[in-house]
Amino acid sequence: MAERIDTLLILGAGGDLTSRLLLPGVASYLGSERGERLTVIGVDRGEVTPAQWRERVTTAFATENSRLAASVAKSSIYLQADATNPADLARVLAQAPGRIAVYFALPPAVTLLAVKALDSLELPKGILFALEKPFGTDLATAKSLNRRLQKMLPEEQLFRVDHFLGKSTVLNLLGLRFANRIFEPLFSAPNIERVEITFDEELALEGRAGYYDKAGALVDMIQSHLLLVLALVAMEPPASVDSEDLRGGMAQVLRATRPWRKNGTSSRRARYGAGTIDGRRLPAYVDEKGVDPGHGTETLAELTLAIDNWRWAGVPFVLRSGKALGEARQEIVIVFRDVPHLPTGLRGIAGPSALRISLKPATLDLDLVINGEGDPFTLDRTVLHTDLGAGELSAYGEVLSSLIDADPTLSVRGDVAEECWRIVSPVLAAWRKDAVPLETYAAGSDGPNSWGRR
Ligand code: BG6
Repeated sequence: MAERIDTLLILGAGGDLTSRLLLPGVASYLGSERGERLTVIGVDRGEVTPAQWRERVTTAFATENSRLAASVAKSSIYLQADATNPADLARVLAQAPGRIAVYFALPPAVTLLAVKALDSLELPKGILFALEKPFGTDLATAKSLNRRLQKMLPEEQLFRVDHFLGKSTVLNLLGLRFANRIFEPLFSAPNIERVEITFDEELALEGRAGYYDKAGALVDMIQSHLLLVLALVAMEPPASVDSEDLRGGMAQVLRATRPWRKNGTSSRRARYGAGTIDGRRLPAYVDEKGVDPGHGTETLAELTLAIDNWRWAGVPFVLRSGKALGEARQEIVIVFRDVPHLPTGLRGIAGPSALRISLKPATLDLDLVINGEGDPFTLDRTVLHTDLGAGELSAYGEVLSSLIDADPTLSVRGDVAEECWRIVSPVLAAWRKDAVPLETYAAGSDGPNSWGRR
């Protein structure tokens, strides 16, 4: 096993990502059974006193009441530096003890400049880079970023962070599929009619116009997170869950994945208008602060994909994600085909059954058709339900734990990041040409009326 890292160096330590997600993720790791001592160094351009920095880390660690987290917060330091300046970065790296992971908690354009600045330095041996999503802004930029990074470091030292790979419910797919005889043999075109992967949120823009108005729902959620979930649902059984086998399997199935209609029109997009969620009035997306209506940004996207291999040929995979919806439906639904023949004489509901894996709340439901309570020849439905239970670590904590162990299993491999962009490229092109209309839905609703209910 690779030697774990000793120092987490956070570039962009003053930013929202660091305090809202990254530091609480570190706390989740430190508070768990797996937690081990770590030096945390924050780097940013602003002037911050040592006491102010410790206070910031302690506040972000407050979710975790652990002695280790408290002591790591106490020994954490802040260095004022410009992450795009090679001399500043050299100074910062010289102060970091042991094996270092550099976490780019920066906007993509600044990350690029920081990577360029690091490229001009002699990097400490074994250094890891952790890069947040979005990885590039399209296929071409993702490729060129990969080329630069891969010239600097071997792939095992590059961590493209996607916190969905740390969600315990997403990782549960591995146990469910590959440690049970009852599901895996059924996961194929003769038995499955369609697969739906949905991540609807009640949350709206939450002040993130600067980023979101250029990304939109397709890039923010489907291009990254949901395609990785699809890969875990559809991949071939791997020999092991080490980084080579798992990521190789994910890459293989993504290479076979494409929009159902190759020109990208097997997709729908919409944007929320004014509405009410949980009694809260929400302005229309275009009236949110910082939004440029001219960008035509969608806040709800749906995309139907095909997987061109023996296992999945002809089975639509419908990926959907949106904001400001009435119900936070976040689930993977595997819809089984009807039985080939229902014995004559059995009456009542048959119809397709589904296996539902809900990401939030973490539950699993399997529909069964059984004989009814009254007339035994009249069929009825029942559901086998179980809670999946929360993971020990938060999703960010899980991904960070794998980074700290220098184990790339839960990071997005370079070719996988490129495949994800390749898959959505025809859709983005079709949308740019207005080949797919931008529809409207009221905030707090299920989506545009014309989409119907799922
Ligand atoms: C982020 C997206 O990556 O994932 C957000 O940028 C989204 O728009 C979030 O809300 C959803 O993940 P979670 O785990 O916070 O529900």
